[in-house]
Amino acid sequence: MNNKKITKIFIKTKAKNYNVIIGENILKNVNKYFNCNRNVLIITDKNIPQIYIDVVKNKCKNPYIYKIKQGEDSKNFFNVKKILKFLLKNNFSRKDAIIAIGGGVVGDLSAFVASIYMRGIDFFNIPTSLLAQVDSSIGGKTGIDFYNVKNVVGSFYQPTAVLIDISTLNTLTDRHINNGLVEIIKIAATCDKKLFDRIKGTKNLKRDIRSIIERAVVLKKKIVESDTLEKNTRKVLNFGHTIGHAIEESCNRKYLHGESVGIGMLYFSSKIVRDEIKKVLIKYNLPVSCKINKNKIYELLMHDKKMSSNNIDTIYVNEIGKFKIKKMQVKKIINLM
Ligand code: GLY
Repeated sequence: MNNKKITKIFIKTKAKNYNVIIGENILKNVNKYFNCNRNVLIITDKNIPQIYIDVVKNKCKNPYIYKIKQGEDSKNFFNVKKILKFLLKNNFSRKDAIIAIGGGVVGDLSAFVASIYMRGIDFFNIPTSLLAQVDSSIGGKTGIDFYNVKNVVGSFYQPTAVLIDISTLNTLTDRHINNGLVEIIKIAATCDKKLFDRIKGTKNLKRDIRSIIERAVVLKKKIVESDTLEKNTRKVLNFGHTIGHAIEESCNRKYLHGESVGIGMLYFSSKIVRDEIKKVLIKYNLPVSCKINKNKIYELLMHDKKMSSNNIDTIYVNEIGKFKIKKMQVKKIINLM
């Protein structure tokens, strides 16, 4: 693999067009892809290697750093308020920008703040987890959790650009790589059998990861471009998430997001697909079942933001690479468990 190669994937939405830049060791070129010649607030978390932050900071004309605690609990109003205050106190104007460096939590929170500060300032994302690189950094979903309901407060706000430096994956544990891989398995199981077979068959994920990421981003691009605001086909990206989110919350975060979604996908698949997905999850040491508290899950599903008139649009996979949207009552979903 030529590690100097840069891939640019152009995403076109009604709100904004932007590039997703993919390469190895490209953090140091951040100012080539992002306009860093202004006030820039770098939002990151306390577990992100300092070297990533320093490399980006050194390319910004007027950098500020804001670190949050790692983990889903940071997606809250308290942090939103604190960051807004920080921006205001440091005289950030409409022409200034936010750069997120981190996983989905940092990205979702930072993008939300960028979307509401002065009615929207430039937001750049540098996703450093596999999950964020292939899913949450693309497509403009921003948000925080509220009263234990995940992402219930948020907006659609497209980034100005996304930079994926594959080498940041080197500092992740296998558990976090496999956790992110679930979002790729999800998009492959619903939309691309060839990709599914690649993930199933590869003997060297590390070697193949870049092309797998690139394919996942292209698939996500197509979905986001065709239905940015999730009126219809974008719902496919929620495959496994209805029960997955509920598992994540009800098991007190014992399982990571991807791990919970992996279990969730098994409930909405035909027997053949379930067996196929299970094999892949096991291959990557991902859980395939967990202890379920139906009452707790019922309560969480009742607050699911995808619910309307007691129904939730769920994604069902009958055959790898294809999906159907099915309206289901919460009671029926619980009965699947
Ligand atoms: N993460 C799901 C979506 O972007 O729609």
